[in-house]
Amino acid sequence: MPDAVGPHPQYDVFADEFLDHARNNLHNAHYDRPTCLALLGDVAGLTVLDAACGPGLYAAELADRGATIIGFDQSPRMVELCRERVPAGRFRVHDLADPITWLPDQSVDRVLLALALEYIDDRTSALRELRRVLRPGGALVLSRMHPTGDWLRHGGNYFDARIIEEVWSRGWHVRYWLAPLEDTCTELHEAGFLIERLLEPRPDAGAADIDRDGYRRLTQQPTGFLAIKAIPDPRGSR
Ligand SMILES: C[S@@+](CC[C@H](N)C(=O)[O-])C[C@H]1O[C@@H](n2cnc3c(N)ncnc32)[C@H](O)[C@@H]1O
Repeated sequence: MPDAVGPHPQYDVFADEFLDHARNNLHNAHYDRPTCLALLGDVAGLTVLDAACGPGLYAAELADRGATIIGFDQSPRMVELCRERVPAGRFRVHDLADPITWLPDQSVDRVLLALALEYIDDRTSALRELRRVLRPGGALVLSRMHPTGDWLRHGGNYFDARIIEEVWSRGWHVRYWLAPLEDTCTELHEAGFLIERLLEPRPDAGAADIDRDGYRRLTQQPTGFLAIKAIPDPRGSR
């Protein structure tokens, strides 16, 4: 197994299917998005950077709530879908591994990094870059796979960060990092963030009819996602 996820845009080949899947499903529409949107709070009049924006489902919701949206994704097809969905946003192809040279220091009010931390090889550097573009008083909201769920599925040493490969529901091949919760906290700390909240979300009650078994699992087991709101540490990075 290679020791890096690397720069290949894995989602490009199934970007359209991801949009179809995530639009109204249990895990994205009724579990991850409500959680991160609640952590982002009132975004009216704010500039939000949607990092790894996918097909624009978050961007559309944030634009509807009055935010100015800047977004990027490693997958060119995801960026096309975003532009179609949110014509008022500014989207570009960009890899989280690279410096965000096209945004000045302290130029955005919120950064969203939903379900993409797992694909970054040097997470501390990427988080540092997200911190750089955040204004004082701003916040980063991120979600990631729940590490307990990853460990229950894959076993092995929970504390060893490692790359795994999976085939997801529709035959999507994905390669990503398994990492303990402590690593995410350390990476945020090293990047100059203070964790304000950590949520182990439960799905919307209304989602029970979409997927009864999945709904029961997510309301009882730590096998889905978790979400963190972090603020720039005024003392800088460690
Ligand atoms: C699970 S999807 C989440 C999309 C969106 N944030 C959402 O929650 O609807 C993961 C996204 O991360 C993007 N991605 C993965 N690795 C990336 C990287 N290194 N730089 C930028 N985007 C990346 C993928 O192309 C994909 O759109």
